[in-house]
Amino acid sequence: MALYSDKVMDHFRNPRNVGKIDDADGIGEVGNAVCGDIMKIYIKVENDIITDVKFNTFGCGSAIASSSMATELIKGKPISEAMELTNKAVAEALDGLPAYKMHCSVLAEEAIRAAIKDYYDRYNIPYDKSQFPDPVEEEHPAEE
Ligand code: FES
Repeated sequence: MALYSDKVMDHFRNPRNVGKIDDADGIGEVGNAVCGDIMKIYIKVENDIITDVKFNTFGCGSAIASSSMATELIKGKPISEAMELTNKAVAEALDGLPAYKMHCSVLAEEAIRAAIKDYYDRYNIPYDKSQFPDPVEEEHPAEE
């Protein structure tokens, strides 16, 4: 069996929504201290809907595929839905990631949340701080 699904390869080779939004309403940047990969996600928000989203990922193929899929999954969706997007849902939408690459999809979940938090902070929108716990290091196991 191939290590990576066709969808992972497709989103890695032809990533969707790559780039930057100059007048973004929220920007989330996260990194994995173990592998050193960095992911940055930009969102535009209108009436609580994520109308546009772009990403820049300096990282492995799984991180690029995860960013690409995650941006597709939240584009046009309400913030509440984007908040519920888990790394597992991103990995499932990619038809799976090898177990030791699951941490790459965690970056996508965290970057989206960080962008939403930044949006709330910029516009002084009140939010429940417990929705944005600090990233948990245990979720980032070392590469083999
Ligand atoms: Fe670092 Fe994939 S995110 S190896």
